[in-house]
Amino acid sequence: MLRVVVMVSGGGTNLQAIIDSVKNGAITNTKIVGVISNNKNAYALKRAEENGIPEKCISPKDFDSRDAFNKKLLEEVKAFEPDLVVLAGFLVVIPPEMIAEYRNRMINIHPSLIPSFCGTGYYGLKVHEAALERGVKVVGATVHFVDEGTDTGPIILQKAVEVESGDTPEILQRRVMEQAEWKILPRAIDLIANGKVKVERNRTVILP
Ligand code: GRF
Repeated sequence: MLRVVVMVSGGGTNLQAIIDSVKNGAITNTKIVGVISNNKNAYALKRAEENGIPEKCISPKDFDSRDAFNKKLLEEVKAFEPDLVVLAGFLVVIPPEMIAEYRNRMINIHPSLIPSFCGTGYYGLKVHEAALERGVKVVGATVHFVDEGTDTGPIILQKAVEVESGDTPEILQRRVMEQAEWKILPRAIDLIANGKVKVERNRTVILP
């Protein structure tokens, strides 16, 4: 049984997709053992509570230094004894010690087809604003392992989404979530839970 901790900062629609997928069997062999947020007002925490999942809020604002926060964050994550850490819209920089501890056991959902519209400064609506500004006709989402870079770890799954005329950043964001994020994040977790994802030379191999 894969023990999963999900880290969130906002509405938690990706967390909800994971919860629903565990419930309906789209994700097998998996238990969400905890949800951690840096934002006490994150609706994602309410989603966890409503589904009986232990949740914690750990905010950098409550610590005298970033080092103290980083230490506590890693402590709290480790306390859940996760096999996999899922970043689902978690907007805090992951400490290097935590990346090392969970190398190839921590994944992130990014709302673009990496390597487009990713890296420092590309998060939330900014990703979709940049895509519309560039005039691309296809966008999408990516699930990848987390390494020391920003959105640079081995890619696990991607799913493309068409840009439609009249799209605003908000409309496009919602379509990417509905048609891509909420599908590939649960699928990636199920693949990992069933031993189907290997990392070779910093690229993933998805086993049949
Ligand atoms: C999603 O758009 C995800 O791609 C990005 O942050 C957002 C989180 O949304 N990393 P939610 O909290 O899952 O609704």
